[in-house]
Amino acid sequence: MTAHNPPQILTLRVMRNDKIADGIHVFEFRDPDGHPLPQFSAGAHIAIEVPSGLLRKYSLCNDPAERDRYMVAVKREVNGRGGSIDLIDHVKAGDHLKVAAPVNDFELPQRAQDFLFIAGGIGITPIMAMIRQAHTQGKRFRLYYLTRSPETTAFLDELSAPEFKDNVVIHYDGGDATNSLDLKPILAERKNREHLYCCGPRPLMEAVRRMTDHWSSAAVHFEAFSDAETHKPTDKPFKVRLARSGAVIDVPADKTILEALHEHGIDVASSCETGTCGTCRTKLTTGKVDHRDLVLADHERVDNIMICVSRALTDEITIDR
Ligand code: FES
Repeated sequence: MTAHNPPQILTLRVMRNDKIADGIHVFEFRDPDGHPLPQFSAGAHIAIEVPSGLLRKYSLCNDPAERDRYMVAVKREVNGRGGSIDLIDHVKAGDHLKVAAPVNDFELPQRAQDFLFIAGGIGITPIMAMIRQAHTQGKRFRLYYLTRSPETTAFLDELSAPEFKDNVVIHYDGGDATNSLDLKPILAERKNREHLYCCGPRPLMEAVRRMTDHWSSAAVHFEAFSDAETHKPTDKPFKVRLARSGAVIDVPADKTILEALHEHGIDVASSCETGTCGTCRTKLTTGKVDHRDLVLADHERVDNIMICVSRALTDEITIDR
């Protein structure tokens, strides 16, 4: 079970599939009869059924005030599971695709006035919708956009627009980690009660999580797309004991604790299932954990576990369920 009702499935017309940077294409979808689309807020994603039948999630990058189109930017992931290549290589303007209406696990708090955005590579996509929404709502933001080179960087034109450019720092590392931007001074203190939103490769998000351990965890938000880092080939089976009922559940090597609980009919709320939203947070009573989330601060990891991604390091752990 998830915290969401299943989203409405729409059949939308592809209006464009255009290359906007090396290996990155932008897609635009509209209702074939010109009807308005279900509304979304910045940070929302849609799930697209690609021609092979796989369902893939992509963050919306256009202005949430637009009701007539959805736009996503897709990186052609040569080492991915094939969804992005299928979409980029086989879908053209005029095609119709099934699209699940927007869902948002990465929403901006209404009352926050100041935002710090950190985007790595294609992780810029939800951040584009966020800066557009922040601008429309008269809120303040700073954006650090970390990428390899101008050729591989999406949205350069939009980000150099007068309304954005003074708040945007684009850092090119040339593909050399020793040229990375030093984020420590940027994250040393939380200014103006800023909310931090970070989206990009897992190592970047893990580094940002470590550097913001002294921030309120409610002010630090991550968005992950891929489950590649949360399932490892070396994963082993283990047992989870439920403290309240005494039940013991087997968690196979290829399943998460959350999946194992659901298979046993145990109802646990979840949402992102990538260790970023915080919904599945559970008290840990005994056992050692391989924490794979981006939610818990170090001191919270002693007695909490995000059961959608993290696993036991011991043969058995006990959780408060
Ligand atoms: S469901 Fe989002 S962190 Fe587990």
